Amino acid sequence: MRVYENPQLIHENIEKQRSYYIPYDSLEKALEGKKEKSAYYMLLNGEWDFKFYKRDIDVCDDISDWDKIPVPSCWQMHGYEDPNYANVNYPHPVDPPYVPDENPCGIYRRTFNISDEWGERETYIVFEGAGSCMYLYINGEYVGYSTGAHNQKEFNITKYLKSGENEVLVKVLKWCFGSYLEDQDFFRMSGLFRDVYLLSREVGHITDIDIQADDKNIFVSCDDYDIYDMNNNIADLDNPVLWNAENPYLYTVVVKGKTEFIPIKVGMRTVSISDKYELLINGVSVKLKGVNHHDTNAEKGWTMSEEDIRLDLERMKELNINCIRTSHYPPTPEFLNMCDELGFYVVDEADLETHGFCNRNSIWDYDGTRKPDEWIHSMPEWKGAFTDRIEKMIERDKNHPCIFMWSTGNESDHGVNHREMIKWARNRDTSRIIHCEDASRLGFVDYPDVHSRMYTDLHYTEELAKSPILQKPVFLCEYSHAMGNGPGDVKDYVELFYKYPKLIGGCIWEWADHTVLVDGVGKYGGDFEEMTHDGNFCCDGLVFHDRSFKAGSMSAKYAYQTFASELNGNDLKITNRYDFTNLNVDKFVLELVCDGEIVEKTEIKLDIMPHEFKGIAIPFDISKYDSKLGIHLNVYQLDNDGYEKGFVQHELKKNNTVAPVDEKFTGFVDDRNFIYAETNGIKYTFDKLYGSFSSIVINGEEKLSDYIRLSAWRAPLDNDRRIVLKWRDERLDKECSKVYSCTVEDNKIFVSASLAGVSRAPFFKYNAVYEFFKNGTVKVSLDGNVREVFPSEFLPRLGFEIMLDKENDGFTDWGMGDLENYCDMNNHAKFGKYTTNAENEYVNYIMPQEHGNHTKTRVLEMDCGLKFVGDDEFEFNVSQYSVKALEEAMHTDELVKNGCTNLRIDYRVSGTGSASCGPVLEKKYRIDEKKINFSFYICKK
Ligand code: GAL
Ligand code: MG
Repeated sequence: MRVYENPQLIHENIEKQRSYYIPYDSLEKALEGKKEKSAYYMLLNGEWDFKFYKRDIDVCDDISDWDKIPVPSCWQMHGYEDPNYANVNYPHPVDPPYVPDENPCGIYRRTFNISDEWGERETYIVFEGAGSCMYLYINGEYVGYSTGAHNQKEFNITKYLKSGENEVLVKVLKWCFGSYLEDQDFFRMSGLFRDVYLLSREVGHITDIDIQADDKNIFVSCDDYDIYDMNNNIADLDNPVLWNAENPYLYTVVVKGKTEFIPIKVGMRTVSISDKYELLINGVSVKLKGVNHHDTNAEKGWTMSEEDIRLDLERMKELNINCIRTSHYPPTPEFLNMCDELGFYVVDEADLETHGFCNRNSIWDYDGTRKPDEWIHSMPEWKGAFTDRIEKMIERDKNHPCIFMWSTGNESDHGVNHREMIKWARNRDTSRIIHCEDASRLGFVDYPDVHSRMYTDLHYTEELAKSPILQKPVFLCEYSHAMGNGPGDVKDYVELFYKYPKLIGGCIWEWADHTVLVDGVGKYGGDFEEMTHDGNFCCDGLVFHDRSFKAGSMSAKYAYQTFASELNGNDLKITNRYDFTNLNVDKFVLELVCDGEIVEKTEIKLDIMPHEFKGIAIPFDISKYDSKLGIHLNVYQLDNDGYEKGFVQHELKKNNTVAPVDEKFTGFVDDRNFIYAETNGIKYTFDKLYGSFSSIVINGEEKLSDYIRLSAWRAPLDNDRRIVLKWRDERLDKECSKVYSCTVEDNKIFVSASLAGVSRAPFFKYNAVYEFFKNGTVKVSLDGNVREVFPSEFLPRLGFEIMLDKENDGFTDWGMGDLENYCDMNNHAKFGKYTTNAENEYVNYIMPQEHGNHTKTRVLEMDCGLKFVGDDEFEFNVSQYSVKALEEAMHTDELVKNGCTNLRIDYRVSGTGSASCGPVLEKKYRIDEKKINFSFYICKK
């Protein structure tokens, strides 16, 4: 066994973990809290000498040809090895504690200067993250060793130093026994990927600071300290200001040594569970509207700068997120500092996942034949390696008010070693609660404090909420898998959270897409010739890799918003969904919208206490307006800077469509293959073979580039991952149309026809009627039946694909929203009038897929001269890409335009859901009806 394969040798010569802090040389600097200004802090980030070996056995003593690498960084992002994205599977054989003999290795080296002043004190070197393990040498002498990639490592290097120039050399190995504990679903990275710095400490310095703060007191484990308020005055704690995520008030404790001033931010708050199993912060029931956060950057891998982190947290605030699970390892201390400051409820998770054990045999034996004894979680020789991970985390992070719950890690089955972790945490910290999803799921319900589950569907989640046996708060540590286009179910979950006290909320999986940019193109598993990989399953962010928002982000934002509005007769019932804040901090703007255009607007203040509601009379007289389509009321919640925090639209009135028709047109020319109809400057050619239009000419100009076809296929979404197998089995992707008859009578063309997948019986039989009018309008009516026995469960969509000859056509619609929306993902969208073009409708999902849909549309006017009017509502999609192009391309640079505008006028499109990992699409969002009736008008604009 190699040294680094010994699970009992976890560290050598590292300091006992203490709470995170930086000592300063003056009170002023301590209160300012800018660590780079401290005379006792020296950041060693920057360019280091670097030498990479594919096998650690090749490392030689005198390296001459050094490369350069920035620290912090991941060597895979600097050309040393390719990135490897792997989810469940270990990227090496499962033979613990052994790891591959070819163990890649990076040697890092740099120098630093020790001043005389520092020479009289103690010097420590701190690594915030190094994976998988590291050996430290100072001036050629071995100092120590440490495992646990995302845990902090601190070494006392005083005795190895000399005054003046010194050399630090670190050997980092890709694999060690710890790799078995780090099987998280991410790009596997190695190196010194977080800050490295020196601290100069006074001789006999304080070794740890433990602060316990509740709603009345702040207890500090040291004797000499002062407590300051936000204005840096000595705090008056007789009337303390409590911390919560909405008002994250922080005091600063400054602990004084002989020469050191150590500031620690403190938030006064309590965490408890009510007798209704609510989560109480300061005694108030709080709903967690959360997200899972991984450290990921398309150019830097696991390395995130403070600016990157701040961007993430600020973007989260914009989306009304109030909770973060640090999946699946402790973040950098700065991350938690910012969560304290900006206000988030944080689930701090230990760096522990052993998911790949469930695939260790050729037969997947996780569910059916779970053999816990074969997992390292039950092996005594691994106990210390497990408990080390929670100890390191809790000791480092214990002073953060943002953390309300400790998590033992993720997807590791459940064994005695986990129990030891829970025991340790419970003993160490009684002020917070404990999370362990595996224990909850696998029947060890009593060990953790919350019943945590992932991806339970709405019905089961509700069952958990109602179950009298389950006497725990229910927390969805992962829900609404945000992969690709979606997620479509956040709002439904949030409404459930608000319905049941016991449902304390959950965290969307996950914050941002993981990808590696190569020449500007997002790459994923399989793009790097890996031995095992999991494709694009890492591209599952609520935001894109650059943290820009997609429709799914906006839909989540409005699901997470801090007010709810219901239409109650002629009044609005407005509920304050803040937990601690009166709604009067925001202003509310009410807009009256007639036929998609704003006609009146007013601003109001709402004095509503947290969790309370009020009836508000709608301040508009809608009888003044003679609408053609309908009247809507928009309710906006704006902050002081005018940022839109929340929004709800209510439909106050819906008009029936006035048919855009005049007298009947009967002057058809019916020849062998075609039926022609020419009137009012528009000439239709109806192809009897296809039972559809093959040409529409307006004022001499051809509008179509192919015949119009009815279809049910869509370019599969990531969220269609599983259902698409059934769809493909029905060959919905290889649709064939059959026309049984096509006849003309009076002003109508009658078509009887079907759609079938190749080699399959027809799945849709229908009659279509095309009714012609002298003004050029054609009413299209479809009346059809889906085959009774339809194992594909539901249709992706159903409607007409119209290839318009004009490239990138522009359009104006009276419908829902400027961002794409689907029947289950449209609470970010509002009925209005929108003008844009095909190009703007493109959404650059890393793996191209169906996108750009618009629901509840009444009218669509294409610039090319065609207009579509719904008999009721329809859905539409305008794209520069064909379905086939979107389906075939695996990366954005493979997408090819077809030089047309690909328009869809759809009866309906099934929802997006989140079934890429989450539950199957809810029934109400599927096209699973057997009988389908759909009608609309094609007109000249
Ligand atoms: C969960 C897991 C996450 C991630 C997700 C799928 O089961 O905890 O780490 O793998 O599935 O994206
Ligand atoms: Mg996993």
